Amino acid sequence: MRNKTLLANAFHAPTPWSVECLTDALITVDADGDIADVIGPEHSSYAEKRAALSASGDLEVLPRSSYLLPGFVDCHVHAPQYPQLGNALDVPLEVWLQKYTFPLEARYADTAFARRAYSLLVQDMLANGITTALYFATIHQEATRLLVDICLEKGQRALVGKVAMDNAESCPDYYRDGSAAEAVEGTRALIDYVRSHPANRDNLVHPVVTPRFIPSCTDAALEELGALAKQCGCHVQTHCSESDWEHGYVLERHGMTDAESLDRFGLLGRRTMLAHSNLLTASDMELIHTRQAAVAHCPLSNGYFAGAVFPLRAALEKGLNVGLGTDISGGPSASMLENARAAILVSRMLETGVDPEKAADERASGKPARIDFRQAFHIATAGGAKALDLPVGRFEPGCKFDAIVIDTDAEKGTMRLFDEFDSGEAILQKIIFTASRANIADVYVSGRKVA
Ligand code: GUN
Ligand code: FE
Repeated sequence: MRNKTLLANAFHAPTPWSVECLTDALITVDADGDIADVIGPEHSSYAEKRAALSASGDLEVLPRSSYLLPGFVDCHVHAPQYPQLGNALDVPLEVWLQKYTFPLEARYADTAFARRAYSLLVQDMLANGITTALYFATIHQEATRLLVDICLEKGQRALVGKVAMDNAESCPDYYRDGSAAEAVEGTRALIDYVRSHPANRDNLVHPVVTPRFIPSCTDAALEELGALAKQCGCHVQTHCSESDWEHGYVLERHGMTDAESLDRFGLLGRRTMLAHSNLLTASDMELIHTRQAAVAHCPLSNGYFAGAVFPLRAALEKGLNVGLGTDISGGPSASMLENARAAILVSRMLETGVDPEKAADERASGKPARIDFRQAFHIATAGGAKALDLPVGRFEPGCKFDAIVIDTDAEKGTMRLFDEFDSGEAILQKIIFTASRANIADVYVSGRKVA
């Protein structure tokens, strides 16, 4: 395969605070799917290069109504919960797990079922423009390996964890690792599987040490998983201070917060992703910042389980690594666009307060909390990529070409531009607020068209 160059209008947000509009950019992608070069009309060699590429037939020109965006990076997904998406959100987290979610996840002992559900999920996520996903799988070795195989086959960049959950006091007999040793050995086996997979030479898929959350793990498992993460240099993912019940459980059991406890077990490092983290204390934020760990903000899911809104703006102002997560199926949408909008909406509600019986000044939190489409776009792309320590999410040399083409003119799409009114950043704003799957025309991972 030779280099190919796209002539396109593109948006990206390398930092939370500004969006860059690349107009008529020449984006060159090499044979490995890496971005080799990005140049705009202001560049001295632009006209010459454009003419030469055009003459040789190596230039792919995007239609004027299409815009290139970095692919979405979903920083928190429960792959096995896809069959339950849009159901079962009538009870609190601790009931939801026992009543709906553990019984569903236990079904993945059946590999035929796993193959069907995981194939649909990965296909739908790619169609939604999710080019990278950080997945919780289940406790099962075979089904989790299948998820790895399916991501490799369909070409989705993915980070996959076999869920570790060995605590007999909180996990049912029918869905639990038999012991701490079993949880750890199963994790190690998956790491070996991913790293030696013959189809994974480009490291499209990474293994993840995945203690479900502190309540579902024994101290022995947490201790050994922390040691394993250090030894293998893997990513780590878990749930952190998600709800009052969960946060309170850890305070009672360990006499400290989730973040402090995870840190003592060696589970809080540069490649750790903490889902939710709604109830962090100021010193938890400090600790996460010092360790350069990251938070996966899951605004839709938090609406159902958290009873609180993650203070995204404060976290970004502090310089915390934050990505956006769908949290399928705690969040009832597999769309990162819907989650981006939810992040904006809940940030406004956090700032203004919501109780109509209070006067406006009493109702307000008194702290600036609102974010706008720029920050939402950032955490859905470059922010999530940085949080995961992956070279994606931006159109810059050295990054992988993971991208989506938004057709703003798609007949069955949900956005409409008006030349008289819409230009520059305002177009991205409309994309974030009104685009949907039908507007996602093409999806690329490492330069390969995957949807
Ligand atoms: N905490 C432990 N397990 C889960 C899960 O599957 N979803 C969410 N949202 N929180 C959890
Ligand atoms: Fe979750």
